[in-house]
Amino acid sequence: ANQTRVDRIEALVRTVPDFPRPGIVFRDITPLMADPVGLGETIDELVDRIPRPVDVVAGVDSRGFLFGAPIAVRLGIGFVPIRKPGKLPAPVYEESFDLEYGSSSLSIHQDALEPGQRVLLIDDLLATGGTLGAAARLVLREGAVLAHTETVLELKDLGGREHLAAQGVDSFSSLL
Ligand code: PRP
Ligand code: ADE
Repeated sequence: ANQTRVDRIEALVRTVPDFPRPGIVFRDITPLMADPVGLGETIDELVDRIPRPVDVVAGVDSRGFLFGAPIAVRLGIGFVPIRKPGKLPAPVYEESFDLEYGSSSLSIHQDALEPGQRVLLIDDLLATGGTLGAAARLVLREGAVLAHTETVLELKDLGGREHLAAQGVDSFSSLL
């Protein structure tokens, strides 16, 4: 009854052991997305925490889009997608990285950001930090400023925060 907003958000994240591989503890946001108030409260909480000023939101394919786009709407600024390879039609920058399971790369349109723009980088979850590390490098290749990086979830045992700090991403926080 006396739950805080963060408690309610936490209660809507499901933990699925051994997905997609034995030993991986998967944190599943689909119950949070499906809840009539859960997604809205998550966006409210994220918007309250985000340090200003920021000029544009960059969200990471695909779960980062679910949170990044509504945050951009709420802040009254634009949204730029950082996408899995082969999806963006115009010239891109691309950065490779290792994942908790597998490896991949991310790309961004070369003309997506303007030099000096203050970027808010959004994803659903920080695990090893490979994904957000590559996303951060893409933002910097644009000549933009990485103002802040925010996630809904952080798997603290995987050292993602330290991985990001080691590549100069100093303003990071996670809701859970
Ligand atoms: C997941 C998650 C993060 C990333 C975190 O994305 O949404 O983007 O992994 O892992 P890391 O910190 O170890 O890099 P996934 O690649 O599964 O893609 P999806 O968002 O399309 O499901
Ligand atoms: N992405 C990378 N690792 C993950 C995990 N353990 N749960 C949910 N998404 C993830």
